[in-house]
Amino acid sequence: MKYKAFGNTGRLVSEIGMGTYYDPLWILTAKLGWFRGKEEKLRAIKKGLEGGINLIDTAEIYGSERLVGEAINGWNRESLFVATKVWPSHLRYDDVIKSCEKSLERLSTSYIDLYQVHWPNPRIPIKETMRAMEKLVEDGKVRYIGVSNFSLTQLKEAEEALEKCTITSIQNSYSLIDRKIEVDLLPYCNQRNIAVLAYYPLAHGRLTRDKRLDVFCNKYGKTASQLALRWLTQKNNVFPIPRASKESHVLENLGASDWEIEPYDYINISNLFVDK
Ligand SMILES: NC(=O)c1ccc[n+]([C@@H]2O[C@H](COP(=O)([O-])OP(=O)(O)OC[C@H]3O[C@@H](n4cnc5c(N)ncnc54)[C@H](OP(=O)(O)O)[C@@H]3O)[C@@H](O)[C@H]2O)c1
Repeated sequence: MKYKAFGNTGRLVSEIGMGTYYDPLWILTAKLGWFRGKEEKLRAIKKGLEGGINLIDTAEIYGSERLVGEAINGWNRESLFVATKVWPSHLRYDDVIKSCEKSLERLSTSYIDLYQVHWPNPRIPIKETMRAMEKLVEDGKVRYIGVSNFSLTQLKEAEEALEKCTITSIQNSYSLIDRKIEVDLLPYCNQRNIAVLAYYPLAHGRLTRDKRLDVFCNKYGKTASQLALRWLTQKNNVFPIPRASKESHVLENLGASDWEIEPYDYINISNLFVDK
């Protein structure tokens, strides 16, 4: 596994992360204390950690924080980069603090590496939310602040709302198929050294069987998933967080690190997925 600098944190983070959003039924049943298929999911996360992945993404809404807490139990905490998120209905000052406390308890950890605002909430001033985020950093409960599903304008507002800290990362949908962030967010993040966590990096699995990648799969001896993830990891500051609830999928995704798509092929692959 290769590691690269995560934004301006000075931390080295695995170029591939792990996402832990499963499905609505998992969320519902997890709320009731029933973790469907837990052992398989746990094995998958642990396989990723053993393979060198140190970036794990969860959220208070996913019902997977306890699972992540269990998976990382026994690991050197400082070697990991644990990211979670606060839900948009909890963005008032007191609610952010409470949500963070609950996430810490579920994750069984004393700090969160990256605490992200899951979605913007236009009804709550971002200044109030960011004041709480800075308090959490000051108290050592959070190391870095991130946002998710923010537009460029909203990202700039979040930056302006911070007094002592900076925005470390943004988490938005990004894959060969979904290129929206290339219009303005990605160039801005590169310019500001803001890390990009790419969710839906496999387009919900569609890219794992996309015939357009066949010729490159044959040339590089890689699967379509590995090519689609490699395309993202080769970008400066971009970290895909594929979800894999199966051990075999995690193992395959680990194979997206530590090799290179040649520059000419890289351009051709990029162009294959742009609407003409
Ligand atoms: N910030 C946000 O608002 C937001 C929104 C959505 C998602 N996310 C984050 O992004 C993560 C990824 O999103 P996602 O799970 O919807 O989409 P995804 O990662 O693009 O695709 C996941 C799907 O691909 C399958 N898969 C993974 N690796 C594979 C492989 N090597 N071969 C074949 N199939 C493979 C998974 O199967 P298995 O699970 O069966 O292994 C799953 O069905 C989430 O877990 C979450 O952490 C964030």
